[in-house]
Amino acid sequence: MTSPTVASAPPSYVRTGGSEFLRSLDVDRALARVDIAGSLVHAEMLERVGLLSKEDARRILGGLRSIHREIVSGSFPWREELEDVHTNVEVRLSQLIGPAGGRLHTARSRNDQIALDERLYLREIVYGTAQLLDLFQRVLVDRAATERDTLIPGYTHLQRAQPISLAHHLLAHFWRLERDFDRLTATERRANVSPLGAGALAGSTLPIDPVWVARRLGFDRSFENSLDAVSDRDPFAELLFDLALLATHLSALGEEWVLWTTSEFGFARAGERMGSGSSLMPQKRNADVAELARAKAARVTGDLVTLLGTLKGLPLAYDRDLQEDKAPVRDAVRTIDLTLTALASAFEDLEFDRLRMAEAASDPALRATDVAEELVRQGMPFREAHEAVGAYVRAADGPIGPASARRALPTLDAAAESLFDPAHALERRATPGGPSPASVGFQLDRARECLAAHGPSLSSLGHRVELIEELVNGERK
Ligand code: ARG
Repeated sequence: MTSPTVASAPPSYVRTGGSEFLRSLDVDRALARVDIAGSLVHAEMLERVGLLSKEDARRILGGLRSIHREIVSGSFPWREELEDVHTNVEVRLSQLIGPAGGRLHTARSRNDQIALDERLYLREIVYGTAQLLDLFQRVLVDRAATERDTLIPGYTHLQRAQPISLAHHLLAHFWRLERDFDRLTATERRANVSPLGAGALAGSTLPIDPVWVARRLGFDRSFENSLDAVSDRDPFAELLFDLALLATHLSALGEEWVLWTTSEFGFARAGERMGSGSSLMPQKRNADVAELARAKAARVTGDLVTLLGTLKGLPLAYDRDLQEDKAPVRDAVRTIDLTLTALASAFEDLEFDRLRMAEAASDPALRATDVAEELVRQGMPFREAHEAVGAYVRAADGPIGPASARRALPTLDAAAESLFDPAHALERRATPGGPSPASVGFQLDRARECLAAHGPSLSSLGHRVELIEELVNGERK
């Protein structure tokens, strides 16, 4: 039996004067659970191929599960000088079970170990974030369903352009987020390949079975090339892009809420969950949540750029630079999860002022396109109609409306009344994907179908996340 002091001494590979700079424990201790899951399956595989005796395997599996319990309960003795989560777990294992602990790392390197941990971690992250995103999408759709007839101006260049409904506007955000959902889950799907067995870079001379390990951990398959397996950070790069674009979408939404809750727009009133007041001006309620959502995109984009910058020009295979990949991922995920949660809550608290919106949308100038299209219906080439209506709007002999329009464009005749009637403004825009209540009805059906399809993809993901939990708790046969 090795004496406890020897077993708990730092292995020589982490004994260096530079250890403070080299360590990654602050960031990678969050990977402890998945690290242990990977080790458990690695040990099972070593036993299957005859590299570990039944007895040693039993000790290792038991020791790893005790370590997991220590970590969960907070009693695990983390040691900074051991550099990272991998060495912390391994040294503790030898402390707990003696020399058998020294057999765990057979045919494995921290290089394929961290690559594996990151893929399992990504699985958990995507599961968590996708659920929050799904919830926010549902909030948007539920609100849209009640606002099909709520008229608001649609904008281009932030100038009132054409009438739309609030439902149509909210659903535009929904579809952006739906693509984000799709991207996130597709990223996870693509990343569902096990790198364990790649070793440091060139596999092993021992008869290991990476395919069995892959299957046991819920991966679709095992790596094709050991150099690629230890150096591939595409999953994190894709994830950060997905999150940066999601953050960008949320920032655009935030900007609109900021505008809409100003007294200039007055389309909505921020509730208490939208932010705080001013410490000086008693009358104020600021849209802080929306403002912060607007700002966070910069930070998440920064995280993406940090990772791409780190990866740029790295020679194959593993380089220590890769250790820097985890911090931006952690930061981006935390940021996005907080933003989604805050926005969903603030949105439920947002009170729309339908009257103000309708007023803004009743601006008769917003009917200019409809008038031109009426002339087209009567046979006029569109370019001519555009000129004619433009001339009318620029030089109307009275307020823009049915009377002056009829004087300037006599063929409009009786149609002029209904063209300027706000109640008809929406119904007329009944093209597919358009804002009429009927078109929005179809759109809502499609949106709900997409939400329903989230179920199976979340549950397949949840199942694979659960599998890791069962492994570390010893509930998986
Ligand atoms: N902490 C390292 C990382 O996060 C683990 C791999 C270390 N490998 C090595 N050869 N030093 O990338």
